[in-house]
Amino acid sequence: MTLHHVLSAHQFLDTALVEELFSLASALEENDKNRALAPSLKGRVLATVFYEPSTRTRFSFETAMLKLGGQVVTTESASHFSSAIKGESLEDSIRIISGYADAIVLRHFERGASQRAAQVSSVPVINAGDGDGEHPTQALLDLYTIKKETGRLNNLRIALVGDLLYGRTIHSLVTLLTCFDRITIHLISPPQLRLPEPYKDVLRSKGIPFEESAALDALDHSVDVVYATRVQKERFAKEEDYLRLKDAYRIDRGVMEKLYQRAIVMHPLPRVTEIAPEVDRDPRAAYFRQARNGLYIRMALLQMVLGGD
Ligand code: NCD
Repeated sequence: MTLHHVLSAHQFLDTALVEELFSLASALEENDKNRALAPSLKGRVLATVFYEPSTRTRFSFETAMLKLGGQVVTTESASHFSSAIKGESLEDSIRIISGYADAIVLRHFERGASQRAAQVSSVPVINAGDGDGEHPTQALLDLYTIKKETGRLNNLRIALVGDLLYGRTIHSLVTLLTCFDRITIHLISPPQLRLPEPYKDVLRSKGIPFEESAALDALDHSVDVVYATRVQKERFAKEEDYLRLKDAYRIDRGVMEKLYQRAIVMHPLPRVTEIAPEVDRDPRAAYFRQARNGLYIRMALLQMVLGGD
């Protein structure tokens, strides 16, 4: 299967497509480990256009492109260094960049920005985060991590903890999880940071049972996956609201002691205080492996989008 734009998790509600992506990612991982990657994207150029900060997403996309033999042009602070500072619209910047590059990875601070970009782009646009909207490639690597770590994507009990209102990785992940059977979701967030209703409607429409709690004490320690998130400071209008909520939860040794022996703890990163550094040594801490998986998922996505051999 080929892909053109990658804008939303809603494009991946087809388990055959997800399976194909995952098997390509795991083949690429294997080849990379054996130093046997084919330069399938030789001669192709990827533009990474980031209007918001990024470490993992930008570096993993760029590394993915380079490992596949392609090249990268980038702006890591597009609001400052591109023509945006001179007043150029996102649409005009994308029109221009799509005349140079073969695909564009875009991160922007406004929800819907990648949809707008896709409407004017002559090449595929990949959404690397659009404000408090979605982050579909993160959700794909999250799902890939769950599969690798637990061995399955059905019959899972998952707790999503933290900023479920603004957390775009959560919005995409919740959507993707609706593809699978016997999933139950526990939403743990401060009342002010609850999952928005449209995403709950997605769960309801697929018959996925979920419950909501405000306290981490309510966490059922027999869950298979705990997915923690950062309170998204940059989305708050008032700093005092952020300060009041930023330390709402902390997963520490005490929580880990009670957690099921084969559970995993995930986080899209960056973490601030949500997971104590002491948890890193616990084999159930999967977040660094999760970040690494992003490289292979993004290689597979680039290959599917750019049609590499
Ligand atoms: C996330 C993002 O940008 O939405 N980061 C990432 O891509 N891994 C999560 C976050 O910033 O909290």
